[in-house]
Amino acid sequence: MAKKADAKKGSFEEKLAHLRQLQEEALQGGGEARIKKMHDQGKLIARERLEVLLDEGSFEEIDMLVRHHTHDFGLDKQRYLGDSVVTGTGKINGRPVCVFSQDFTVFGGSLSAAHSAKVCKIMDMAMKLGVPVIGLNDSGGARIQEGVVSLGAYADIFLRNTLASGVVPQISAVMGPCAGGAVYSPAITDFIFMVKDRSYMFVTGPNVVKTVTHENVTFEDLGGAVTHASKSGVSHVVSNNDVECLVKIRELYSYLPLNNAEDPPVMPTKDAASRSEEALNSIIPDNPSKPYDVKDVIKLLVDDGNFFEIHEHFAQNIVVGFARMDGKSIGIVANQPAVLAGVLDIDASVKAARFVRFCDAFNVPLVTLVDVPGFLPGTAQEWGGIIRHGAKLLYAYCEATVPKITVILRKAYGGAYDVMSSKHIRGDFNFAWPTAEIAVMGPKGAAEVIFKRDIAAADDPEAALAEKEAEYRDKFANPYLAAEHGYVDEVIEPKNTRARICSALELLKTKVDKNPPKKHGNLPL
Ligand code: HXC
Repeated sequence: MAKKADAKKGSFEEKLAHLRQLQEEALQGGGEARIKKMHDQGKLIARERLEVLLDEGSFEEIDMLVRHHTHDFGLDKQRYLGDSVVTGTGKINGRPVCVFSQDFTVFGGSLSAAHSAKVCKIMDMAMKLGVPVIGLNDSGGARIQEGVVSLGAYADIFLRNTLASGVVPQISAVMGPCAGGAVYSPAITDFIFMVKDRSYMFVTGPNVVKTVTHENVTFEDLGGAVTHASKSGVSHVVSNNDVECLVKIRELYSYLPLNNAEDPPVMPTKDAASRSEEALNSIIPDNPSKPYDVKDVIKLLVDDGNFFEIHEHFAQNIVVGFARMDGKSIGIVANQPAVLAGVLDIDASVKAARFVRFCDAFNVPLVTLVDVPGFLPGTAQEWGGIIRHGAKLLYAYCEATVPKITVILRKAYGGAYDVMSSKHIRGDFNFAWPTAEIAVMGPKGAAEVIFKRDIAAADDPEAALAEKEAEYRDKFANPYLAAEHGYVDEVIEPKNTRARICSALELLKTKVDKNPPKKHGNLPL
């Protein structure tokens, strides 16, 4: 300590040496042993993660010399420089970003008042600059030794997450065990990335669960990456390791604008907008009950077949994600006939609603591919609130003012027809393939209701049902009645779909649409 004080008073060289010493000390975080422990677990430490996330040499750190000010429980002897988080600015493919990366080697990345102040400062800067925030989370939650101060410190971050929502994109990676308060900040952000076998998120850990509910559950089962990616839907993207996770965040970033007043960046492509795709003409099976994989359709439509899927493992009966067409970022929402026949249920509705709202908030045009038999019937769905949750998707599409392009590939039945970006709820260009079936319900169900008496009175009710079903199918299971009413702008040949969407996107560049002024709507939560 005495040596450092001398350095402060001495010559310029000595002062410089002192600064370098402090910087060196800060770079050590919680010390060699703890760094080694993380490396042995296959994890990167906080600054290494930023090196992978950001363009080489672009990271500029701030608040490296911040220390906590707590004296209880011997903390006055453990005042690590920078405390338990690294903050600053950097670039991803030349575009700016504000970042924080929690340092698990210092008190397990736990949140002190000093840690929170650093995160809040960088978030405030992001709002002033209008650039996204990426948070790399690895934290044992509230700094236990700081008591209520750390709870307040969390709330300071939650408030900023909420105020920034819809203004700048917020992306979270959960890269270690995140407990208690450490999960709620990511939960308010737009996307959560997790790493298999490394990251955990739970409000209370397995021990508390055992005490309260007597359930025996492992960390992995309770709140691991796979659990949150497939069961709870808390996590949007899962990776096998830290590097893969950070590289995927870079990829997602490339589709997004810096803030809600900007358009997403356009990436030049050699993939011609006018590309005709013959394979699309034969992708829909002749048998209307036969499934196909809508991701095959997506890959044939978008630039170079690149599709960045969100929520790949959750509610797989609907597919959402980002792609580009003619270089422009788009958000794709597509019913997936290969899973549960593409039906809309609670999870699918909520998944798609959140995605639609993100795209609308950040000026990403929506391309909706429709093949939906309707909403899923049953007590589980009704008691679970399918009315409330299905309404979220309806609400999200209704309020969205970004360019909305819809292609009905095959089925568009019942309420689900209305919901899936139909003309009536401000779809800008609504196309249908000749294979489209647009009606109140499927032909069999419809025939059973409207020809109930005729079928019951028939000598052969089964044959009568088949006949009436065919009659209904002939009349309604096509796109032409909808086209007659102008509910479909054009019935197009599938192979021309890319060209039609690309020219619609080009036209819609100047689209202006607004919702009535209000404080905020009342989304059915
Ligand atoms: C202070 C903490 C800490 C915490 C961990 N550490 N969590 N220090 N406050 N919350 C310290 C440990 O003492 C240890 O210090 C170092 O971080 C690494 O922790 P380990 O336990 O050795 O690591 P590991 O075995 O990997 O376990 C990680 C863990 C576990 C699962 C996160 O540490 C844990 O359960 N921590 C407590 C989690 C928790 O209950 N947090 C409070 C939640 S309540 P040394 O010196 O040995 O390196 C909360 C309320 C906020 O957050 C609510 C707002 C809405």
